[in-house]
Amino acid sequence: MSETVFLNGQFVPYEQALIPVEDRGFLFGDGIYEVVAAYGGRFWRMEEHLDRLERSALAIHLPLPMEREAIRRTAEELLRRNGLERSDASLYLEVTRGPAPRNHLFPEEPHPTVVMIARPLPPVDPAVVRDGVTAITVPDIRWQSVHIKSVCLLPNVLAKQAAHEAGAFEAILVREGVLTEGSSSNLFLVFGQELHTHPEGPFILSGVTRGAVIEVARDLGYPVVERAVPLEELWRADEVFVTGTTSEVVPVVRVDDRLVGSGRPGPVVLRLLQELRRRTRGEA
Ligand SMILES: Cc1ncc(COP(=O)(O)O)c(C=O)c1O
Repeated sequence: MSETVFLNGQFVPYEQALIPVEDRGFLFGDGIYEVVAAYGGRFWRMEEHLDRLERSALAIHLPLPMEREAIRRTAEELLRRNGLERSDASLYLEVTRGPAPRNHLFPEEPHPTVVMIARPLPPVDPAVVRDGVTAITVPDIRWQSVHIKSVCLLPNVLAKQAAHEAGAFEAILVREGVLTEGSSSNLFLVFGQELHTHPEGPFILSGVTRGAVIEVARDLGYPVVERAVPLEELWRADEVFVTGTTSEVVPVVRVDDRLVGSGRPGPVVLRLLQELRRRTRGEA
C-alpha cells in the first residue's frame, strides 16, 4: 500500500505529492516545521507543538493557511489513512511561503504550501539507553533566531554529519564558550541532583521534550536551573543527556573522547526517562 501524505488540502499518494520548483521552501528555506510524536495513535503535547508552530509563523510573518483545529483533525486523519491510528508514529508538518517567481521579497499574494507526513515511530534502540552515546562539540554557527523552528537547517545538518563521521551520535553546539544545545536536541547537565540547561531565547530551540523533562524533573524533586553553562563545566557534570521528540532522553557518556561523569548512564537520567515514558504512554 502506498503511503498517503497530506498536501495543500488533499490526501494524496506519496508519489503524487509534488511541489512546484519555485516553492520558497526549496529556493530560500522560507518555511517552518514541527515533528510531533504519537503514542498508541494519540499525539503527545500536540497543543505545545501548535503553539510553537504559531510562534514560528508569526516570527517569519507567514500567515498559517489552516486553523489549529483543522491541523489537529488532519493529522489524526493522516494517521488513520496510513494505518497508524493505534501505533507509535511521528508526524512531520511543514509550512512554506509557497511557490512564487524567485524574488527575495514576499509574494504579494502568498499561497503557502502545507505538507504532512506520518510514519511509524521506530522504538529507541535499547542499547542507546543501556550504554549511552558519544558526542562531539562543534562551534554553533547558526543565526541568532534559532527559537524559530525554520527549515533552514544547514548548520545543524553539517554538525550532525560531523558527529556521524566522528562515530558520534550527536554534535553539541558551543556559542562563545557556552553550551547551547545539540544539532537536533536540547542539552542537560546534571550536577548532583540538579539539572542545568540553557535558558529559552534566541540561542536554542525551545524543545517540547525539554519542557516535559523540566516538568518531570521538578515533579520528582530535582531542581532545574536554566543558565548559560560554559563548555568547561561539561567535564565536571555527573551526567549529561540530550532530549528530542523522536529520541526522548538520551544519556551522553563521552564527549570529544573524554568520559562524562562515570562514563555510564547515571541514575538521574534513567529516572527521568522512565517517568517521561510513563507519561507519554499514559497522558498523551
Ligand atoms: C535544534 C533542535 N533543538 C532541540 C530540538 C528538540 O525539540 P523537540 O523536543 O520539540 O523535538 C530539536 C528537534 O528537532 C532541534 O532540531
